[in-house]
Amino acid sequence: MFSKKIIDSLSSGSMIRAMFEQGNILKAKYGADNVYDFALGNPDPEPDPEIIEDMRALAGEPNIHKYMSNAGFADVRDTVAAYMKAQSGKGFTAEDITMVVGAAAGLSVTFHSLLDPGDEVITLAPYFMEYNSYVGNQGGVVVPVKTLPGTFRPDVNAIRAAIGPRTKAIILNSPNNPSGAVYPEEDLIDLVRALEDAEAETGNTVYVVSDEPYAKIVYDGVKVPSVARIFKNSITVNSFSKSLALPGERIGFVAVSPDMPDKDLLNAAIVYSNRTLGFVNAPSLMQKVVARHLDRAVGLEAYRERRDMLYEILVDAGYNCLKPQGAFYLFPESPIPDDKEFARIALNHRTIVVAGSGFSYPGYFRLSYCVSKDTIKGSREAFRAIMDECSELKRKA
Ligand SMILES: Cc1ncc(COP(=O)(O)O)c(C=O)c1O
Repeated sequence: MFSKKIIDSLSSGSMIRAMFEQGNILKAKYGADNVYDFALGNPDPEPDPEIIEDMRALAGEPNIHKYMSNAGFADVRDTVAAYMKAQSGKGFTAEDITMVVGAAAGLSVTFHSLLDPGDEVITLAPYFMEYNSYVGNQGGVVVPVKTLPGTFRPDVNAIRAAIGPRTKAIILNSPNNPSGAVYPEEDLIDLVRALEDAEAETGNTVYVVSDEPYAKIVYDGVKVPSVARIFKNSITVNSFSKSLALPGERIGFVAVSPDMPDKDLLNAAIVYSNRTLGFVNAPSLMQKVVARHLDRAVGLEAYRERRDMLYEILVDAGYNCLKPQGAFYLFPESPIPDDKEFARIALNHRTIVVAGSGFSYPGYFRLSYCVSKDTIKGSREAFRAIMDECSELKRKA
């Protein structure tokens, strides 16, 4: 028979994927233009022409497609280290950087390097549920701690209460998927104190794993505080899936804080994990390409415009919603307490949303605005009708 663990996981599959499939069924029935599909965070701008040019030009360079160091090209790691240094003010060198197969692989190699079976990892809900797999694959256990309702800021007292003798790490993801919240610096500084207190009490380090694929997707001039600057024991996981609109190319990096005691051992463990989990090394051509575009973000203005349009439609229809400063999602409150029922009602109005339960945060729902302006405009009546139906349900209850 096949792996029991995996077979069991198949039946509890991702809610995002399930909604994506529902969307496809509706589109086949009613035509794509008549379905408002906000399920999937798939960046829709094409990569900048300069990036495509670089792919073509670099593909012909000698020795670019060969096996290499499992950590990646030395010159690329140098460039990434300089970028991390500029962002954080910390003395990153190439030794602190491992090129990886996107953030998903970056998180997997990080947890493979950090966790023993039974170790706990705190996540701040709402969160990207794939963390359950990246941690669970290594025998770790996820401990979700809710952020504050409405603002989705970290609840540092609740985090303090959740830290125990087996806590090995906490994952931060700001700008956040699904809430779009950017965690303010003052909250992170409170968290530094909480982690220091816990470490003094238990004698164990709590590592901060900062999952940053949306770090460049921000609006209104907001600055995302550098986790590598604020936390001594940080591991930054970055990817170019969102910032350069290259999710299919699978490229990112892991950066271990140069201030971390034993950082050389952790770097060696990460490179070892990259090899032995079967990634071997990050795609060679893409390493060279992204090294030329570390500071870039594509499609920001288009995302901002669509955020504003969809936010206005929702508020106009009576939904409570934070206007997020980052990523490309809105996370409004469900007008009825049962967010899964809400998603079902929305489906009847040919509108695809993902229930907050899919992010360990019931009572809300996620909308990805990586969609055309026509889809957003077309959804106005649907969101009104969904709200009317929910109001009717509440009246009857
Ligand atoms: C919060 C978060 N982390 C990680 C990932 C994985 O990104 P990548 O494509 O770099 O593996 C995603 C993708 O949607 C994400 O939303």
